[in-house]
Amino acid sequence: MSGDLSPIDKAKFVAAKRAAQFVEDGMRVGLGTGSTAAWLVRCLGEMVRDDGLKIRGVPTSSRTAQLAREVGIEVISLDEAKWLDLTIDGADEFDGELNLTKGGGGALLQEKIVATASDQMIVIADIGKEVEHLGAFPLPIEVIPFGWQTTQALVEETLISMDVLGRSSTLRMNGDRPFMTDEGNHILDLHLNRIGNPRQLALVINQMPGVVENGLFIDICDTVVIGYGDGRVEVRDINQGTVATERLDFVESDNLFSYLSD
Ligand code: A5P
Repeated sequence: MSGDLSPIDKAKFVAAKRAAQFVEDGMRVGLGTGSTAAWLVRCLGEMVRDDGLKIRGVPTSSRTAQLAREVGIEVISLDEAKWLDLTIDGADEFDGELNLTKGGGGALLQEKIVATASDQMIVIADIGKEVEHLGAFPLPIEVIPFGWQTTQALVEETLISMDVLGRSSTLRMNGDRPFMTDEGNHILDLHLNRIGNPRQLALVINQMPGVVENGLFIDICDTVVIGYGDGRVEVRDINQGTVATERLDFVESDNLFSYLSD
């Protein structure tokens, strides 16, 4: 029942529900990863089941693939889709230019490949994700396991000449073992506090041997759908320079909210 949702879950839900309205019959849709994107997948599943929406989804992680199949969305690979009409995904931070930090859930590599192969990327987020400067959320970078400590030392040394406020990093763990991405890589979380020049940092980090990808999404996102705990939702389109606010009514659906016990 929607009444059981915390304000933050309500915010994520309304953002996802509003963003689902951008999805049209016949689209090939990139499906993001994380708790906000999971609401989107459930909303789309409901539209497939109840409204006969016909879409093919390209998931950005094994977790999302499993959920998409569970809710009845046809899942295809990116290579089968070749190009996507739209990707909808969450973010850990977004700034006024819709630059993003992503990868808190460890899926940044597939997320960036899928979003880049899309005509449009829409980010769905609660208002708490908006920041003036990226960097308070640790920046994830995906590194190959071979020589990861050497890669980490090189990254930290390179950060000395970057416009950032911190330069320590930690290996992401899963219990007592290093976290493994879907591609079998590790994640280093960079504690930068503030990133002065995200574009430059993204380019420099990706030049280092051992680094597969970083979690900065620059010039990839077009639109952000921001949810609030009271049910308001704001759609900002950076290309058109428009901001539209509305309030979504919760339609309680046993199917949708039964996932709350997950
Ligand atoms: C997954 O790797 C991330 O990029 C997520 O999109 C991001 O962490 C947002 O997750 P939540 O929606 O759970 O906050």
